[in-house]
Amino acid sequence: MAKLDKNFLWGGALAANQFEGGYDQGGKGLSVHDVMTAGKHGKAREITETIEDDKFYPNHDGIDFYNRYKEDIALFGEMRLKCLRTSIAWTRIFPNGDETEPNEEGLQFYDNIIDELLKYNIEPVLTLSHFEMPLHLAREYGGFRNRKVVDYFVRFAETVFNRYKDKVKYWMTFNEINNQMDTSNPIFLWTNSGVTLAEDEDPEEVLYQVAHNELIASALAVSKGKEINPDFIIGNMISHVPIYPYSCNPNDIMEAEIANRLRFFFPDVQVRGYYPGYALKMFEKNGYDIKWQEGDDEILKNGTVEYIAFSYYMSTVVKHDEVTSVEDNVVNGGLPNSVKNPYIKESQWGWAIDPVGLRYTLNVLYNRYQLPLFIVENGFGTTDEFKEDGTIDDQERIDYLREHIKASIQAVDEDGVDLMGYTPWGIIDIVSFTTGEMKKRYGLIHVDRDNEGNGTLKRTKKNSFYWFNNVIKTNGEEL
Ligand code: BG6
Repeated sequence: MAKLDKNFLWGGALAANQFEGGYDQGGKGLSVHDVMTAGKHGKAREITETIEDDKFYPNHDGIDFYNRYKEDIALFGEMRLKCLRTSIAWTRIFPNGDETEPNEEGLQFYDNIIDELLKYNIEPVLTLSHFEMPLHLAREYGGFRNRKVVDYFVRFAETVFNRYKDKVKYWMTFNEINNQMDTSNPIFLWTNSGVTLAEDEDPEEVLYQVAHNELIASALAVSKGKEINPDFIIGNMISHVPIYPYSCNPNDIMEAEIANRLRFFFPDVQVRGYYPGYALKMFEKNGYDIKWQEGDDEILKNGTVEYIAFSYYMSTVVKHDEVTSVEDNVVNGGLPNSVKNPYIKESQWGWAIDPVGLRYTLNVLYNRYQLPLFIVENGFGTTDEFKEDGTIDDQERIDYLREHIKASIQAVDEDGVDLMGYTPWGIIDIVSFTTGEMKKRYGLIHVDRDNEGNGTLKRTKKNSFYWFNNVIKTNGEEL
């Protein structure tokens, strides 16, 4: 018997701001990403006030999918993808975010994309918001600090649900809604919620207010979506970097248990429909005054998700008596007291490579929530070299993907986890989120563009393209 269901959703994952380009085409407005410069490993991206002439903004052009989508989708079809997870740029539909009428040209663009995908039998899986808030909402309203932004988001969600209701079945609300728990890196609150912090503010208190508003926005979107089409399948999307205890010392175990609340806070609310006790206790102890409106309890209860989509790239470790600051541990999810795992290697960008951690994650999430799971991001960011014959032998990437797919199949076949699909991140090379680089490549298709924006944008299939094609063909039997 095949280990995976015949409808298993093999696919690829992308985000509008990282690959579409066309940042000022088709009536699109500026998003929070359009004022982010390129950084690199160890050098943070800068968020500028406006677009400055002497600075480079890699998301403006992405890989120019906006103008090349037919060629790219044909390649996805050739790869046999059964689904494509991508996002809708909010700024294509509501350029400033607070308009009452949507931008028809933006809606038409996604009609074209969806139709083109369906032509190749590729199921669209759409993220409503993948770090794409209109800049205007961030600057003039303070992003999700402001409850009005919840209404604007819901208007946007309703508009696209209505428009694509007969063509799209799978949706997710906010990408990696929980990565902003790491307040040590300002880009996370900015990209997720359009929020910047004043110097005298307690980042954690701001975060939980923002989180509340965003959880309400997510729940309202789920309820609206199900009203518009009861056959929609709507999930949340979290980043899951499991936190291991360093040892069997009970203090390390407890340290990890507490640290893991950073991972579970958002999904606990989105799945259960109410706040977990540990969060309420923490608000009380810290004197946090999180503003609720009447009816919020009901909204959360009625807007729970039907599946959990998550990204998995790495794991991390905490040790109770290690004294490291959050700032030293940005890569590990901004955790204090985290240490390197002596049993596993890291990528060039310092991301721990841990396939067993994926099986572990699938078990932990499934046991905690009992909902179908969907791995919507997993992949290996690294540089690529062309060989003399013009091919790209990306064996390291293949090895990474193979081991993670094996671990996922074990979770299904041996542990009984309900897994809907697997979509490797950056199925085609795109701009890196954290660093803005092009050379941190995840793609199975190479794009000729460098960190400074030079290159022909030519697409070349890597060895992993052919390998993944066969994985899909054999439904994961041949790895
Ligand atoms: C996730 C994001 O955090 O990780 C993606 O959802 C991102 O947008 C991906 O690209 C990989 O991160 P990076 O920084 O290597 O591009």
